[in-house]
Amino acid sequence: MEKRVIASKLPEVGTTIFTRMSALAAECGALNLSQGFPDFDAPEALREAMARHVMAGNNQYAPMAGVMHLREQIAAQLGLHRNINCDPESEITVVPGATEGIFCAVTACVRAGDEVILLDPCYDSYQPAVELAGGRAIHVPLAAPLFALDRERLEAALSPRTRMIMINSPHNPTGSTLSRDDMLYLQELVERHNLLVVSDEVYEHLVFDGRRHHSALEFPGLRARSFVLSSFGKTFSVTGWKTGYCVAPAELTVELRKIHQFVCFVAVTPVQLAVADFMQAEPGYPATLAAFYQRKRDLFCHALEGSRFRLTPSAGTYFQLLDYSAISPDPDTNLCEQWTRQYGIASIPISVFYDKPPQQHYLRFCFAKSDGVLTAAAERLCGI
Ligand SMILES: Cc1ncc(COP(=O)(O)O)c(C=O)c1O
Repeated sequence: MEKRVIASKLPEVGTTIFTRMSALAAECGALNLSQGFPDFDAPEALREAMARHVMAGNNQYAPMAGVMHLREQIAAQLGLHRNINCDPESEITVVPGATEGIFCAVTACVRAGDEVILLDPCYDSYQPAVELAGGRAIHVPLAAPLFALDRERLEAALSPRTRMIMINSPHNPTGSTLSRDDMLYLQELVERHNLLVVSDEVYEHLVFDGRRHHSALEFPGLRARSFVLSSFGKTFSVTGWKTGYCVAPAELTVELRKIHQFVCFVAVTPVQLAVADFMQAEPGYPATLAAFYQRKRDLFCHALEGSRFRLTPSAGTYFQLLDYSAISPDPDTNLCEQWTRQYGIASIPISVFYDKPPQQHYLRFCFAKSDGVLTAAAERLCGI
């Protein structure tokens, strides 16, 4: 028998489904609506700013908490888009991707034996972060078909060891959003049970049909206990730049930065400078995103009208769930591989976002794609 030199600290974790499905899509030459990234480019002015800063020699370490010019722009935009006052010095930390910020927030707060509530289906980085900190993930499913907060199950999952709850709105993979009433309820809950919050808001600007995004920063009782994560990758269509930020009260920010400085120390300097220039030049840009992506969602959903899939148009994010229960009883993991090979269309099974996947039949499709790809994808789906 092969002798192992290490017992894995994350024995359940393999290569993520996103990596596998993108690789399979490439291998099969399939239309790739699996991984969540745009197939169109970022604004030209942003890319030019990046090139300019690289060529101007701005290529050495930035300050640990982020370039101040960028933190000031973040504070200005929080004022402009959300009417939130925020101190760039003590409350904003630039991070190399929201994923790193989430990891640092969890590591800073969760101790051995602490319980952390995760709302399934949930983004795949949450549970490993909790486990590596010695904590225990307690999974509470959102209620299908609308994937709304299930207050009864949430309260039943609380215990004296519950330390934190991780929320994500707009929600990947389901496209649901937390309402103002949900946020007021959560505010009351976390105060009552003395909980910390990680609020993953990377799709904050992608909300449709006249909805508003309700940030944890807008509710004083949540704000006082929350790490709120945003991603420039999502907002400016530069997922490969892996840069975002965390807003948290000064006391929590001090602890987050203690971890951040040893996990990564800093985010990439020319990226920070380029994003800051772009935010200053085009402060209204994020407000254009909702209409831009809503049109893509509608294009995709209308083109599927003659298909055998059932769908509820996504309320936010750039993901659309399709219910295939009228087509096949097969598990989503099998089907998404099979359809990538057979029909040349790659998606993501949502069961992988669950601790205990319920009996349901959904695949997730990313509509941050050019119109031609969306139309061609819908045509292939209509043929199934
Ligand atoms: C819910 C959610 N959180 C976090 C991230 C990661 O953001 P970043 O690329 O900034 O690390 C993603 C990316 O897909 C996501 O969907």
